[in-house]
Amino acid sequence: MSKQFEKLTECYKYYRSVTDFVPSSGLILGSGLGNYAKNMRVLWEIPYGSIPGFPVSTVEGHDGRFLLGYIGDVPAVVMKGRVHYYEGYPISDVVLPVRLMKMMGIKSLFLTNAAGGINREFREGDFMMITDQISNFVPSPLIGENISELGTRFPDMTHIYDLGLQDLIRRTASQEKIRLKEGVYVQTTGPNFESPAEIRMFAALGADAVGMSTACEAIAARHAGVKVCGISCISNMACGITGEELSHLDVQAVADRRGEEFQRLVTKIIEKLG
Ligand code: HPA
Repeated sequence: MSKQFEKLTECYKYYRSVTDFVPSSGLILGSGLGNYAKNMRVLWEIPYGSIPGFPVSTVEGHDGRFLLGYIGDVPAVVMKGRVHYYEGYPISDVVLPVRLMKMMGIKSLFLTNAAGGINREFREGDFMMITDQISNFVPSPLIGENISELGTRFPDMTHIYDLGLQDLIRRTASQEKIRLKEGVYVQTTGPNFESPAEIRMFAALGADAVGMSTACEAIAARHAGVKVCGISCISNMACGITGEELSHLDVQAVADRRGEEFQRLVTKIIEKLG
């Protein structure tokens, strides 16, 4: 058994000591979705800090926890807070929560985030369904001994974002009359925002939005056979596009302003997974 799987097994044993709940869907909350709990029937809360070996966010004010319960009729596990690679954890620890949710029982994973818009047809506050990704600017979370209990050494990545879930998201957005863009997400390490030249490079590579999370989580989930979908809130236009300087506070403010509609969209989609 690999060291990483031993660590996961310890986390999983702790989880099972708290509850025998088996979620079918996972949801990772990005900026603006922090108060998501009101959209679900929460039965258990597990602070990350109580799970042995679990990576805990070093960002001040991020009280990370799993929320377990029902979104509509769907048994779900929700991550309030995630760790980012820029916090200094090895990438295998950054995706440990995704793998733990797989062990809890999830079949599908819904990823959300705030991202900078690279596509010039996007506007601040837009939602972008992720159709594909570029993750080569961060290490693969699969580097190191393969966790064969979860998946194969060389997993296919043809459809990282599940085509059926993409259809469901399109239909739901249209029914809810929520404007939805689509595009390719590129992950950087952060924590600095990009330079204008880097954004021009990402545009030339075919990226529509940029962020500091998500792509590594999607790879770990696909490795483990979990279906993935994702939506970004375009919290700002990426560096160099409008000429304005970027600040975390502005990014957060836009994500918060769009939070209610984002929550409604995510909830309607997950309810239909049932
Ligand atoms: N760049 C990287 N990550 C981000 C951005 C951005 O412009 N906005 C929100 N997260």
